[in-house]
Amino acid sequence: MGSSQTVAVFGAYGHTGRFVVTELRDRGFVPLLLGRDAGKLQALAASHPGLEYRVASVDDPASLDQALKGAAAVINCAGPFASTAAPVIEAALRTGIPYVDVAAEIEANLDTFTNFADRAQTVGVAVVPAMAFFGGLGDLLVTTAMGDWTAADEAHIAYGLSSWHPTAGTLASGTVSRERRDGQRVRYTGGGLEYYVDEYDLPTLEWDFPAPMGPRTVLGEFTMADVVTVPSHLSIPEVRTYMTTDAAKDLAGRSDGERDPSPQLFAVDVIVRFGDTQRRITASGQDIYAISAPLAVEAVHRILGGQTRTSGVASAGEIFDAPDFLRSLSAHISLEPRHESAALKADRPVRPTIAGRSS
Ligand SMILES: NC(=O)c1ccc[n+]([C@@H]2O[C@H](COP(=O)([O-])OP(=O)(O)OC[C@H]3O[C@@H](n4cnc5c(N)ncnc54)[C@H](OP(=O)(O)O)[C@@H]3O)[C@@H](O)[C@H]2O)c1
Repeated sequence: MGSSQTVAVFGAYGHTGRFVVTELRDRGFVPLLLGRDAGKLQALAASHPGLEYRVASVDDPASLDQALKGAAAVINCAGPFASTAAPVIEAALRTGIPYVDVAAEIEANLDTFTNFADRAQTVGVAVVPAMAFFGGLGDLLVTTAMGDWTAADEAHIAYGLSSWHPTAGTLASGTVSRERRDGQRVRYTGGGLEYYVDEYDLPTLEWDFPAPMGPRTVLGEFTMADVVTVPSHLSIPEVRTYMTTDAAKDLAGRSDGERDPSPQLFAVDVIVRFGDTQRRITASGQDIYAISAPLAVEAVHRILGGQTRTSGVASAGEIFDAPDFLRSLSAHISLEPRHESAALKADRPVRPTIAGRSS
């Protein structure tokens, strides 16, 4: 705490960026406010007296280099990340500082792993994509649930959200991702991403979340960024993510990026299965956007403090001590301790079925 190091936040005036700026201040860092709109930066700076802001554009590498001068790290909160991740990572590598983002775009996250692994390794800086609720938290939970296992047969990550009123940034990112997939669906199966076309609605199944969420109907194959982060370092051929149907309906029903004045409750319930044994861990809390700030800022804190296990491009579960990282979030999330049980057929999450076919 209280390092007084300067941490740049690109997209500082967005909904998530604001949470990150406040969290950085609370943790004793000095946020450097970055974005493409001078007026919005100025307005944000007015509510944080003493903070510097700098205008920078992803279309102008020199402006990004100038903006990152003096920063010890950068957190990218500007999405769609299909447009912003590569230019900001390039600038971070030129500057020689670590990069963390909150991207929940499967293809953009994959691009980060594919296109920057070698260079980030050569430069010797950490690049951590999806260091947020989707992608990051699930990966930390799966890694913690694995314990001493080095491989598993399946990982299931079920998102229980009491509601989901997405921001404009979330909606725009969803649109970009759908366009990049050409309308196809995506899932992680057989050790790889599979793009497919299906005329049926996504399958539904009942998921028994621990209290207070309780049993809820979830959509199967509601594929989130965890299908990139988890397999990036764990040998698990089947990684499946699920979303409460109510939250998915909320998401589909919004087109205006309306802000939610009463943020949702969430539970992230993770089950990993290896042979006849399953291990389970659950995290609960409130507000999927707000929780992304302590996740991203704790990541920066650990990277700058040398509490890392690798360098280059890495997911949260690979680069950090996952159980210890989760414990450090105790002010923000409640953890149901990991427990192990026999993966009896009736208890085990099974492939959801719909209309008599296996999905
Ligand atoms: N993984 C997770 O769990 C998680 C959690 C939170 C957020 N996110 C993601 O983070 C992103 C932001 O979400 P949000 O809730 O903060 O949305 P938001 O409130 O709509 O803010 C979006 C921010 O991105 C900026 N931006 C968009 N495109 C840009 C570009 N090409 N160049 C520079 N800035 C750009 C916007 O600036 P302008 O106002 O100038 O357009 C704004 O600052 C979304 O992609 C969202 O999916 C992911």
